Amino acid sequence: MCGIVGYIGSNTAADILLEGLTNLEYRGYDSSGIALNIDGKVQLFKAQGKLQNLKNIVQNNYAEISKSKIGIGHIRWATHGVPSIENAHPHTCNCGRLAVVHNGIIENFKELKVKLEAQGCTFRSQTDTETIAHLVASKFAQTKDLTEAVRLATKEIEGAYAIAVIHQDVEGTIVATRRNAPLVIGFGEGENFVGSDIPALIQYTKKAMYLDDNQIVTMTADSVKVIDSDNNPVALKIENLPWEPVALSKMGYKHFMLKEIHEQPDIVRNVLTGKLSTSDEPVILKEVTLDREKLKDLSRIQIVACGTSLHAAMIGKYIIEDFCGVPVDVEPSSEYIYRKTITDENTLVIGVSQSGETADTITAVRQAKKKGSHILIVTNRPDSTMAREADSLVPVNAGIEVSVAATKSYMAQVISFYLLAIYMAEVKNSMPKEELTDLKHELVILPQKIEKILTNKDEIQKCARKFSSFKDFIFVARGINFPTALEGALKLKEISYINATGYSAGELKHGPIAMLDDSMPVLAVLMKGKVYDKILSNAEEAKARNARMIALTDSEDEKLEELFENIIRIPEISEILSPALAIVPLQLLAYYIAEFLGKDVDQPRNLAKSVTVE
Ligand code: G6P
Repeated sequence: MCGIVGYIGSNTAADILLEGLTNLEYRGYDSSGIALNIDGKVQLFKAQGKLQNLKNIVQNNYAEISKSKIGIGHIRWATHGVPSIENAHPHTCNCGRLAVVHNGIIENFKELKVKLEAQGCTFRSQTDTETIAHLVASKFAQTKDLTEAVRLATKEIEGAYAIAVIHQDVEGTIVATRRNAPLVIGFGEGENFVGSDIPALIQYTKKAMYLDDNQIVTMTADSVKVIDSDNNPVALKIENLPWEPVALSKMGYKHFMLKEIHEQPDIVRNVLTGKLSTSDEPVILKEVTLDREKLKDLSRIQIVACGTSLHAAMIGKYIIEDFCGVPVDVEPSSEYIYRKTITDENTLVIGVSQSGETADTITAVRQAKKKGSHILIVTNRPDSTMAREADSLVPVNAGIEVSVAATKSYMAQVISFYLLAIYMAEVKNSMPKEELTDLKHELVILPQKIEKILTNKDEIQKCARKFSSFKDFIFVARGINFPTALEGALKLKEISYINATGYSAGELKHGPIAMLDDSMPVLAVLMKGKVYDKILSNAEEAKARNARMIALTDSEDEKLEELFENIIRIPEISEILSPALAIVPLQLLAYYIAEFLGKDVDQPRNLAKSVTVE
């Protein structure tokens, strides 16, 4: 949520900042800005709306702007104050000699503002960030030391933040710090970088260091110094980033979302690598450290997550209960944190998060940790804040996901839950060996089935074209595919803004059926198994109310032709593994509908990929 980038070196800072912001655009995109030092003066350039507007401003002033070799940039997802030029970062103080960019929320900004106004500071925006600019400037006036000014200011700030600051009286220097929001330093030759996330710098360097909470970095082109909040030096821990810059290219696809959907067969292979070699061998989860005896005795499991990760968690519940016989509760993190949850040291708490930075989920797992629970984190970012809270980790290995609508990371989470459930069942000896062997075999051949769907998308595209003009959409399923219906509906509403809802098919008759008529498409996820006939009956009921019926199925049953006007057929798969396959056509359906409607598929309005505020 929001993106920060900073650069100091011998190249044109604006080019590097804009490149970094482009790669962070998925984090928010309602306004953007950069601060540069041009001929010894800090100057701000800001634009409302998409980053392209800022790029145009830079282009129009390039002769002047290109002189600067130092700068900080920001892309915003508004929390305090509407998206506007005044509220866009960077922000400055009365004298305009300092500029600051900020991710997060300053919780005591109102109190600080009153104090600072009393000291003569004039506020020009409605943001909480502007208090940081005035506060650091006032500390700088006292100390004449930018690092010390930032250090003293952070003693007074409450909340979550990652900030980067420049000041024209301290030429060639960027100071940055963080608390409960990620910040990473990138090391180059005669140049250094800072960013709120790796994509901001991966094009320039793979040498990086993650800053810990309350650490402060002071960087010039040739030096990087880190201290803690008590002014003690911190040794640099430089690591080589495993990311490839190619992850940030669309590789010929029109949108990142389409590229990422097509990456899913390989993602499944990646997730399995090192964890499941053959169907005869046990699953290996090296970073799950929960004692085997303790695992056998677990009395309950709670899973917390948000958005798409919540849907992966719901599948996790289904399979862990089925394979291991342990009760599992799944709850949105935002609900979990505001009630008296029954969590103790015999509870395993699983946090699921693509980014590992979602504020609600971080708070939820921290609360559970305090109660003595073992914390297991399923995440795509082993380098994230949440991963650092973990006692056990299941890294999902989906690579960088750029599209705001999560697809491949969902697939990786779902597969990770199968591995975790099998692992637990093997430790607990709670499931017949042959059944586990069959399931493992099916997991190994799953990528080929996904590939089949991806090479034969005609029916999905036909369906998308036909239904793209509808205002509402219902997805129904039962059992293990109920979360598939929820996720299919979420994908559609996120990127096309169609009012799409997922229901348990059995619930249709208890209310939603009132909405059905010939203006309502109903897509039934109809995978062969325990609930196939039941969903078929529910679909009959919907058809009897003139709903426009679509089936997503692995059945060849010819009877379906009478009931459904469109049938999306996918390869046969066991019911228990079917959510991993059934979601792919729904991702594609949402993509093609949004594409037909001309929507901004990769950056849907009002959303951000990672939501770091509660
Ligand atoms: C945001 C994103 C969703 C994502 C959710 C949870 O709302 O737009 O796509 O599912 O956050 O994110 P997480 O990183 O915790 O999985």
